Amino acid sequence: MNRIYNWLPDHVDIRLRIIAWAYLVAQILLVGTGGLVRLTSSGLGCPTWPECSPTSFVNTPELGIHGVIEFGNRVLGAVIGILAIIAFIAILRLRKVRRDLFWLTLLAGLGIPAQAVIGGISVLTKLNPYVVGLHFIMSAVLVALCTVFVYRIYTAPTPRSLVVPRWFAIVTHITSFFVAITIVFGILTTGSGPHAGDANSPRNGLDPVVLQHVHSWPAYATFLLTIALVIASIRFRLLPVRRYAVTLLAIEFVQIGVGLIQANTGLPGILVGIHMMLACLLASAMTAVILFLKRPAEQDVAAEGSASGIAAATATGTASATGPASATGTATAR
Ligand code: HEM
Repeated sequence: MNRIYNWLPDHVDIRLRIIAWAYLVAQILLVGTGGLVRLTSSGLGCPTWPECSPTSFVNTPELGIHGVIEFGNRVLGAVIGILAIIAFIAILRLRKVRRDLFWLTLLAGLGIPAQAVIGGISVLTKLNPYVVGLHFIMSAVLVALCTVFVYRIYTAPTPRSLVVPRWFAIVTHITSFFVAITIVFGILTTGSGPHAGDANSPRNGLDPVVLQHVHSWPAYATFLLTIALVIASIRFRLLPVRRYAVTLLAIEFVQIGVGLIQANTGLPGILVGIHMMLACLLASAMTAVILFLKRPAEQDVAAEGSASGIAAATATGTASATGPASATGTATAR
């Protein structure tokens, strides 16, 4: 037991960086695979649990594409559970010096059983759209928590101070408020339309056409506010927040485009799935902008540079777990 404990990191090293990145990427991908299950009605692709079918633990050719999708989602869910446990254990040895990392892994880890309970309630309530919506909100919160985890892995645990003008910070927080409102109304829109739960599950009874408009208004407000943030960050040379603001704007641009196309083409499943995943990427980028409003007093310069990897990953959602770590060289937040 002692040998295992001694093997655990006693400072932030490459192992922790890989775990943090893998955790974030897996959380975002899980939203995609979960969405795919719902949008392709593959929930019963594996008719039994924990086996996929009465005769096999994995999907078989007879279960077709629905079996592949449902089994893939189950595998990714299991991977996240394992990653959560690994992340928590990996932090144990430095829990006294990095209480922030300890609490983040604990909170994110507890989010997984919470998601399982919400998922169970959604089945018991025959996919009540509000419960299904809560499931999505929890996913977005977990993505945000994992983004903070990645950020904290790259930054020293010293007090942080504002590195942008106060008005810039206020506009950023107002923008995040509009992001949250947009997501809530997006969920209500879904709950009123064809993709809430399955074909027989209840709808929330609201008018989907009206809701589409109400959902897009805060989305446009978010976009305008983000343009203002980008212009201000360029004008006042607010680095490194500028690159995260630009990333956020780019994601919003694509997200709004996808939203408009899906709304005008009868909500094809593939676009709705992309819209869901982009919403989580957007939540991650918004979190990064907020985090970079401040800077630790004793920020390691090299570590700060390497943290720019967050932007790249939030932009692609598939960043290599080792990318930013290799850029860091020996810089670690001890
Ligand atoms: C900042 C930009 C936006 C964000 C963050 C966002 C986010 C979301 C979210 C989280 C959902 C719910 C997904 C789910 O529960 O499965 C959603 C649904 C939806 N969004 Fe957006 N959205 C944005 C912009 C737009 C725009 C501009 C439109 C254009 C009208 C739009 C159209 C829709 C539609 C039609 C749905 C319902 C899809 C369905 O019925 O499955 N979105 N959005």
